[in-house]
Amino acid sequence: MYLRQLQLIQFRNYDELLLSLSEGINCFTGANGAGKTNILDAVHFLAFTKGFRSSQDQQAVQKGADFFFNGGKLIRKTTKDGKEIEKSVQCNYQKGKGKKVMVDLQPLKRMSDHIGYIPMVSILPSDTDLINGPSAGRRQFMDMLISQYDQVYLRNLIQYNRVIDQRNALLRQFASQGGVDQDQLDLWNMQMVPLGIAIQKERARFTELFMPVFEDYFKKIVSEQEKPGIRYNPNIHDFTEEAWHKALKDKEARDLINQYTGLGIQRDDLVFQIDDRSVRNFGSQGQQKTFVISLKLAQYALLQNQKKLPPILLLDDIFDKLDKYRLAKIAGILDEDMEGQIFITDTSLERMKLVFAETLKKVKFFEVQEGRINEVVTQ
Ligand SMILES: Nc1ncnc2c1ncn2[C@@H]1O[C@H](COP(=O)(O)OP(=O)(O)OP(=O)(O)O)[C@@H](O)[C@H]1O
Ligand SMILES: [Mg+2]
Repeated sequence: MYLRQLQLIQFRNYDELLLSLSEGINCFTGANGAGKTNILDAVHFLAFTKGFRSSQDQQAVQKGADFFFNGGKLIRKTTKDGKEIEKSVQCNYQKGKGKKVMVDLQPLKRMSDHIGYIPMVSILPSDTDLINGPSAGRRQFMDMLISQYDQVYLRNLIQYNRVIDQRNALLRQFASQGGVDQDQLDLWNMQMVPLGIAIQKERARFTELFMPVFEDYFKKIVSEQEKPGIRYNPNIHDFTEEAWHKALKDKEARDLINQYTGLGIQRDDLVFQIDDRSVRNFGSQGQQKTFVISLKLAQYALLQNQKKLPPILLLDDIFDKLDKYRLAKIAGILDEDMEGQIFITDTSLERMKLVFAETLKKVKFFEVQEGRINEVVTQ
């Protein structure tokens, strides 16, 4: 599946834009602040019904305007006879009215139903937060990835979070009214435990699937012999109802004092290591970047395998941070392993031309200037 056309109206710094895209590689180059990342944000919107820059849709509305339109025409090739089918995804947002997303002109009832329809992976400068930031980012990484191939997981997760919200509300109610209704609390525990275990099992399975693929990419990019590792660190170590109920009982007094649920899958983490040492505490910046890029490339490979469809890949400014050796290695991987459409931003058109000088893919170069885009014609 690839995006053939992107149309924007009053989206961030784009007043009106109509872009015809390459099914191979699309390079957006230009000065700082020109609007390169905004294009990736718009493409991300079509797949996830939100941008990556902000969770608030209204921030994507062009300054001074009161709505935006973001429309994409996608091409899906059928596996049987290679016939091309055109699909459209349109997002409208109007201040005060909210957001509407339509697939083939049919409005979506639930945004979550759309996740996974357009498989997509992005590599952004902020992704180093995966290593250096709090555990929530690592859980979100797992959750987003699993949700793209497993709708049941996503539903369980949404349900689990609702149960935790209710349980927390109850804990607050006990604190404000005095006294504890044990039956009511047990009722929420009974709902929380099976959901939590289903999520744990899926996270453990995911880590096992993911690890070898990740290791492969890491070794392809790095010349020296470094051994990377990823470990799932669940907050409750046994995946059994007994273990969960015991843990909940043991921590019940603390939960009542804190007025929130202090254990469960909302406390899980992923541990990242190189040569058995924490990447966060011991890894150099270059190692950290390589680790993150390998995580994302593995995410890509896993998704492609699950969906039997190459995802769209968004790369924001990744080449800027890499030495020549790693740059060449990654360019090689993009060329050989990444079958889907690629969107890439960089400040230098010359560097992009150099990087993709020998690619077998169809490349389009776009120069971005203050919310306007011109295609660079190359011989
Ligand atoms: N809602 C909005 N309305 C108008 N302009 C906006 C809006 N949101 C962001 N911008 C503008 O978009 C520009 C930033 O665009 P973007 O982040 O895509 O730049 P870039 O080309 O990726 O730059 P860099 O090379 O620094 O990463 C800024 O000038 C910012 O003011
Ligand atoms: Mg940018």
